Amino acid sequence: MEPSQDAPLHIPVMTEEVISLLEIIPEGIYVDGTVGLGGHATQIISRLSSKGQLVGIDLDEDALQYCEDRLTASSCPFKLIHNSYDQILRILSKLEISKVNGILLDLGISSLQLNSEDRGFSFSRPAPLDMRFDRTNRRTAADVLNKLSEPELSDVFYTYGEERRSRSIAKKISQVRPLFTVSDLVEAVRSCTPPNFRHRTLARVFQALRIVVNKELEKLEIFLNHFIEALAIGGKVVIISFHSLEDRLVKQHFRQMKENGRIRILTKKPLQPKENERKLNTRSRSAKLRAAERIS
Ligand SMILES: C[S@@+](CC[C@H](N)C(=O)[O-])C[C@H]1O[C@@H](n2cnc3c(N)ncnc32)[C@H](O)[C@@H]1O
Repeated sequence: MEPSQDAPLHIPVMTEEVISLLEIIPEGIYVDGTVGLGGHATQIISRLSSKGQLVGIDLDEDALQYCEDRLTASSCPFKLIHNSYDQILRILSKLEISKVNGILLDLGISSLQLNSEDRGFSFSRPAPLDMRFDRTNRRTAADVLNKLSEPELSDVFYTYGEERRSRSIAKKISQVRPLFTVSDLVEAVRSCTPPNFRHRTLARVFQALRIVVNKELEKLEIFLNHFIEALAIGGKVVIISFHSLEDRLVKQHFRQMKENGRIRILTKKPLQPKENERKLNTRSRSAKLRAAERIS
């Protein structure tokens, strides 16, 4: 799929910090677990020799197609895999790779997805309520909205969107459903929330739904429980998150692994984008980056 005409190219977040923390070995093997449009991947691969390798994973086949076109010119071998990063051990085993030198996760959504005309990620674009990163999955945002009970919906908006009006929004949705389109959901939210800051309310509701549709926190947790087995001693992991619950999961798992003597934490506090990046790329503003090195 071509990005729509008005879609800005996705700008990778905190690239300088990612590259510096990965300390790339030219002959090393690196995994970009959320390769997306290949913004970070092009930077990683440009530092690898023909003896190195990049494995890019993404749930979004459109993104992988786009990324493939972008990486093709590289002299370093690469593999792009349509799967979820939480399956990293299985993916590497199929590729007959036992250990890698670095893993990157840049969580969340790309500009290609957000600006897409038919995927329903954005509250400002008319589209079906889809929101699946992986369009081969069955459950869409419409299914979540139409099938969960009112208390379950309220819980989704409160937990994943930190939305104070979660109860009234869930009540309204349960009164007017079935919902099929972004406009249906926007209208339901509009009719039960005050106009002030409604954009922020919509953003929180859409974010919460996306997290649930794609089981984002569950996948991150599975990854955090297993990634160490894929890393060589001295290998680095870098994770950029955009949601406080994601960052908390990363922080807790890193702390536990540090106590168990498995990793050295490279970012005492999460790194955040510098002022000039925050200005240039508004999407970067909520980014938090944590990194660690496997030591045993
Ligand atoms: C912020 S974008 C990554 C952008 C990329 N770093 C770049 O510079 O172009 C996040 C990507 O992660 C993908 N994604 C989200 N959850 C995933 C998962 N569990 N496994 C693999 N990819 C996932 C999304 O489809 C999206 O393409």
